[in-house]
Amino acid sequence: MIETLLEEAGFHFVDAAEKADVVLVNTCAVRDHAEVRALGQISDLSRLKKKNPLLIIGILGCVAQARKQEILEEKPFVDLVVGPDGYRKLPQLLEERMISPPGSPGLLETELRRAELYDEIIPRHRGGVTAFVSVIRGCDKFCSFCVVPRTRGRERSRPLPSILHEVETLAAQGVKDVMLLGQNVDSYRWENKTFADCISAVADVQGLHRVRFMTSHPSDISENLLEVMGCQNRISPFLHLPVQAGSNRILERMNRPYTREHYLNIIASARKHVPDIALSTDIIVGFPSETDAEFQETLDLVQEVRYDTAFTFKYSSRPRTKAERMPDDVPEEVKVERLERLIELQKRISHERNLEQLGKTTDVLIENVAPKDSAMWFGRTPDYRPVVVAKGSDTVGDLVRVRLSELIGFTFRGERV
Ligand code: 5AD
Ligand code: SF4
Repeated sequence: MIETLLEEAGFHFVDAAEKADVVLVNTCAVRDHAEVRALGQISDLSRLKKKNPLLIIGILGCVAQARKQEILEEKPFVDLVVGPDGYRKLPQLLEERMISPPGSPGLLETELRRAELYDEIIPRHRGGVTAFVSVIRGCDKFCSFCVVPRTRGRERSRPLPSILHEVETLAAQGVKDVMLLGQNVDSYRWENKTFADCISAVADVQGLHRVRFMTSHPSDISENLLEVMGCQNRISPFLHLPVQAGSNRILERMNRPYTREHYLNIIASARKHVPDIALSTDIIVGFPSETDAEFQETLDLVQEVRYDTAFTFKYSSRPRTKAERMPDDVPEEVKVERLERLIELQKRISHERNLEQLGKTTDVLIENVAPKDSAMWFGRTPDYRPVVVAKGSDTVGDLVRVRLSELIGFTFRGERV
């Protein structure tokens, strides 16, 4: 989307920072680790500026939003700091900067604009069968550990006709697989339409093979969405439903307004409507005051659900969140040990879940030539398991019917049927 805005304003992209007149760094602030990395990357750019004093350096995204003053004060070589709702102003800010005397103070654009959706700007599609389409921006949930509501602002749903227009444009360019994105897609509302209506309409777009979505919230996901998933076979049998923790006391302190029991009911309902559903989650270990017994409840929940994949994180304190005021009292070595135990368990379950797939016959969507063997295609099953299959008369974007015959690491080998 930023690329589209800049191209329309007459900027051209080059393949290396050394060749550019403008370098923009997009940043993520969700966890401390990502932010530290982004700040390091920004510091590295001062070298480029020494070589080329006319270079314009801009910092975009959530770290820009959260640390604007600090960046301008501590990194005087930065020319622009632009938060997630300020991208429309980028061309104007860049032009302003090009004519201002070298060494003038950096420009700041970090107002949160409730109405900003960028919905008529169609992101540049880089080819390939998969595309990502934003349906809702911001978040109103205020989980106590999370900085997103502070950096991204309140929830705003994108009008359905604008989503459909983008998806139709992508399908006409050869896209077969669309991922609908939002911090909390389940709170999508446009006129009287819900997310279930939105995804059904997208799944009906001519030319698409698959539609999936991310992220859901256990308090907002509807039975109706699970029903729709069960009967619309172009919607992938895949659900990313972050649980964050297995203990009700920790969930409450996280301001996640559901219980472990409620979460398990949703999982049961998902499996009822979509029997072969693949499940994924996000989990935080070492949240302030988490005891060994409470962490054990997380491990037990993981055992019970048997996720196909899980994204696991050590808790890190984030600025201006409610949990920032709770003592970060789980020692680092305990966090590391809990994370390792959780990853170990999840790896075992992921492997077992993969073994259960062997022998199944399924459709594979061809994405590419296999990286290690040009006689093979690389593709994915409807629940996004990676598969290699011998090339035939088909091509990228086609569906091939295969039997999953072998598992090599995390990748399947498929035999055509
Ligand atoms: N510390 C650790 N993990 C976090 N996440 C969000 N904020 C934090 C934090 N302060 C994780 C959550 C969320 C995912 C995107 O990142 O699990 O679902
Ligand atoms: Fe952050 Fe919670 Fe919103 Fe997800 S639902 S973006 S974790 S506040």
